[in-house]
Amino acid sequence: MIRNLSYYCLVLFAIATIHSCGDDMPEPPEQVDLEAIPFNTQEYQLNIPEGFPAMDIPEDNPLTVQGVELGRHLFYDPILSIDSTQSCSTCHELRSNFTDNLAASPGVEGLTGRRSSMSLLNIGFHTNGLFWDGRVQTLEEQALLPVEDPLELNDTWSNVENKLRRSDRYPTLFREAFGISESREITKELAVQAIAQFERSLISSGNSKFDRVTAGLAVFTDQELDGFEIFFDINPDQSLHAECGHCHNAPLFTTNEYFNNGLDAVNSLTEFTDLGRGEITDVLFDNGAFKVPTLRNIDLTAPFMHDGRFQTLDEVLDHYVSGGNKADNLGAVLRPLRLNEENREALKAFILTLQDPDFVTNPAFASPF
Ligand code: HEC
Ligand code: HEC
Repeated sequence: MIRNLSYYCLVLFAIATIHSCGDDMPEPPEQVDLEAIPFNTQEYQLNIPEGFPAMDIPEDNPLTVQGVELGRHLFYDPILSIDSTQSCSTCHELRSNFTDNLAASPGVEGLTGRRSSMSLLNIGFHTNGLFWDGRVQTLEEQALLPVEDPLELNDTWSNVENKLRRSDRYPTLFREAFGISESREITKELAVQAIAQFERSLISSGNSKFDRVTAGLAVFTDQELDGFEIFFDINPDQSLHAECGHCHNAPLFTTNEYFNNGLDAVNSLTEFTDLGRGEITDVLFDNGAFKVPTLRNIDLTAPFMHDGRFQTLDEVLDHYVSGGNKADNLGAVLRPLRLNEENREALKAFILTLQDPDFVTNPAFASPF
């Protein structure tokens, strides 16, 4: 009998424990029926400037006005971080051409990664890998990562999904973008689809001086024209070819390829402190190679290179004029350049024709909050 009683107590105790555990669990997400809200998406018209390539858009994630708008909210909303202090835009600020002007960006815990933030201008055209080392292929795949990265937003997706489901704003926005019928249908997969849609909308205005000259709507100054010829190796004087256009080719001013542009002095290809592309491909020849960044709006994105080692364009030019550090995989066209002060000023003047103030002041790309 005593034995039975103690067994009975044990069972009661177990039930009580389970029950009290249940009390500590986060409340289940509030369930809101969304069917009454209209779902009627409109196709988003991308404004692709003359001469740009077509954009490859995944069939399962076409751009809609409502999807881009939801993505814009998510991009700017600190709800994506553990303590509501950071959003994507903390490290990708519109006024800095979607960089943060830091050599390395502190995440919510104040810890910094090893590389500099990257511009998102024309990111929808980057079909040869994302990040300095090209370790992910699609914007959807990329957008999954910052939320759970301890050096960035340091949250979990299940927590973020719960916050979105319970918010006043998001059930409606997800309904309008994706036609979900209940708030619990909000998922990370839909969230990153919306963020990717917003990112694909971040396209050059087509109003930079370079673009206007290309379209026949403006003319270069003599100095800019000199710089243009030096940049693209079309100056009749071959000693004035700077080879920049091979890797920073028009119209994107990046080929989206990976090169070692000679930043680090190494005795062997195993010695780079950051292996870059080689870390992903495991190919020795890729060590120390990084993705070629765009030069559009470059005046807004200092410091330069994957580790932000150069503060000014002059320091960048000093580097290229020197020819860079020798290595077996140094970009084949790199060699010491014979550019005098006037040639360098011309090159800089040309690069500054890539300024695109209309891009960084476009209200469609700015915070909705
Ligand atoms: C704490 C700063 C930080 C936050 C927050 C952050 N990023 Fe980044 N982002 C970076 C850095 C640094 C890199 C380059 C990292 C590397 O190459 O290893 C990067 C790279 C990228 C790239 C690749 C660009 C290219 O040219 O290949 C994309 C796209 C991107 N981020 C989008 C986002 C989105 C979307 C969010 C929010 C969900 C976000 N980032 C949040 C710092 C941040
Ligand atoms: C062989 C290919 C190659 C050539 C030629 C080349 N670059 Fe680069 N450039 C790169 C790569 C790769 C990077 C990024 C390297 C890194 O961060 O490790 C880069 C980075 C830059 C940056 C920094 C961009 C940023 O956002 O941090 C500038 C500015 C630049 N290059 C200008 C030039 C100019 C001007 C020329 C011609 C004098 C030139 N490049 C020639 C491949 C090249």
